[in-house]
Amino acid sequence: MAHADFDTIAVELSSLGEPADLRALFGNDNPIELEIGCGKGGFLLRMAKACPDRNFFGIEWANQFYKFAADRMARWGMTNVRIMRTDAKHFVIHRLPPACLSALHVYHPDPWPKKRHHKRRMVTPDFMEAAVRVLSSGARLAIQTDHAEYFEQIKTVTAARPELEQIPFDDPSFGTLDERTETNFEVKYMREGRPIHRLALRRL
Ligand SMILES: C[S@@+](CC[C@H](N)C(=O)[O-])C[C@H]1O[C@@H](n2cnc3c(N)ncnc32)[C@H](O)[C@@H]1O
Repeated sequence: MAHADFDTIAVELSSLGEPADLRALFGNDNPIELEIGCGKGGFLLRMAKACPDRNFFGIEWANQFYKFAADRMARWGMTNVRIMRTDAKHFVIHRLPPACLSALHVYHPDPWPKKRHHKRRMVTPDFMEAAVRVLSSGARLAIQTDHAEYFEQIKTVTAARPELEQIPFDDPSFGTLDERTETNFEVKYMREGRPIHRLALRRL
């Protein structure tokens, strides 16, 4: 497998243009999938190994997880993954150009359960407006959470976008591997028997 070192995989926000040119990061024209809040990178690693003809970009705010994920990708020699530490919401809204993503993955976003903190949630109308803009035609948006009340908000916010149509979450014809997402939180919560709420949409 081709060598990939930490410094290639770990991307500095300042190195990206305005708007951010993700294609230049990978040096090829393969489709680019973004995972927001990739944590330790379990989902990205599994996908990147299974789909070498797709590029995977992970954004993680927590320094410890960002470093762990980038180091993990380097140890596996992954050439189709990049990881960046920044605020993903700000990045999607302000830095990404239109139609640059073939998929957007948001798995177990922080639920911010207190009502006064709801405005800190990732999936809000302003985020969804930007998400619709950065997804290319036919692209997939996948969201999953263990938090029932947040899931209701997610359904309301996404249903307000006429550019999105609901699709089956685990249909391989839309780019999934199988029924599992396999993020660290999903694995942990499923082991605990907690219900997982999943939603997938296609950009029209
Ligand atoms: C509950 S964890 C889920 C991690 C992973 N997606 C999973 O399912 O295992 C939420 C992650 O999102 C990250 N996060 C929260 N807000 C973020 C933001 N604005 N930008 C980037 N990452 C963020 C957190 O640091 C944390 O690692």
